[in-house]
Amino acid sequence: MRQQSYRKPEGEDGVSDFEGLKALVTGGASGIGRVTARLLAERGARVAVLDLDPSGVEKPLLGYRADVGDDACVREAVAAAVAELGGLDVLVNNAGIGALGTVEDNDDAEWHRVLDVNVVGMVRTSRAALPHLRRSSHAAVVNTCSIAATAGLPQRALYSATKGAVYSLTLAMAADHVREGIRVNCVNPGTADTPWVGRLLGASDDPAAERAALEARQPTGRLVSAAEVAGAIAYLASPLSGATTGTSLAVDGGMQGLRLRPEGPR
Ligand SMILES: NC(=O)c1ccc[n+]([C@@H]2O[C@H](COP(=O)([O-])OP(=O)(O)OC[C@H]3O[C@@H](n4cnc5c(N)ncnc54)[C@H](O)[C@@H]3O)[C@@H](O)[C@H]2O)c1
Repeated sequence: MRQQSYRKPEGEDGVSDFEGLKALVTGGASGIGRVTARLLAERGARVAVLDLDPSGVEKPLLGYRADVGDDACVREAVAAAVAELGGLDVLVNNAGIGALGTVEDNDDAEWHRVLDVNVVGMVRTSRAALPHLRRSSHAAVVNTCSIAATAGLPQRALYSATKGAVYSLTLAMAADHVREGIRVNCVNPGTADTPWVGRLLGASDDPAAERAALEARQPTGRLVSAAEVAGAIAYLASPLSGATTGTSLAVDGGMQGLRLRPEGPR
């Protein structure tokens, strides 16, 4: 079994635990992926972003246009990114899309499309990345899953099914690759304040009321920030968490684990 060695954080202003490491973040042009790519770079990594639209990706990040729904395109982009980075240590499988409704609301084509992007997309990037990750002494994969994998949310049948699959895929991959020295974990965000949720709110009849309802659903009474999810992804990807594999880390304002009584007398 390959052993990952412990690395001490360095640097005066913050940790530089990713110094010398190379990372690839899918869906890294917006929201959680964007903040994650920047954070890994700040902490010393060379970072490539793979996205449908990488036009806004700024240096020092490298941007690659790719659709995780297209295997040839993913292979080409991963190969190009790894060549430019000079290797690969960290893969963040973050690209994903949403779907609304109950099981009655999405047709077969929509089920296939969303499963294809959210689940098979992670399979495609992982498949392309694994040969490179095997050469790393600090290899880590972090999948962006969701609270929807572990809690029943209304009007999210298809989306939840994809994230449930991501959760199980994370565990299976962690088992398959632990002896190769590759750790695999996932983060489970609650509702996070990203352009995605902005679009959701914008499409509702009463965005302010919808936002208030989403905030009230989380015990902290607010949405999760992209930075808070990025911090959790960086934790799981870091060589500092070399003993952590096959876990899911909830970043959900307490939504999964807590059962509060209504405000008032205890
Ligand atoms: N925002 C939330 O409340 C929330 C909660 C839980 C989980 N998540 C998950 O976090 C991840 C990121 O969400 P976000 O809120 O930052 O969304 P976002 O829409 O702000 O960003 C998603 C990024 O993925 C890219 N993308 C979408 N489809 C792609 C494809 N086929 N190929 C390549 N790139 C593609 C988009 O171009 C975009 O840059 C998703 O997997 C989502 O399911 C989000």
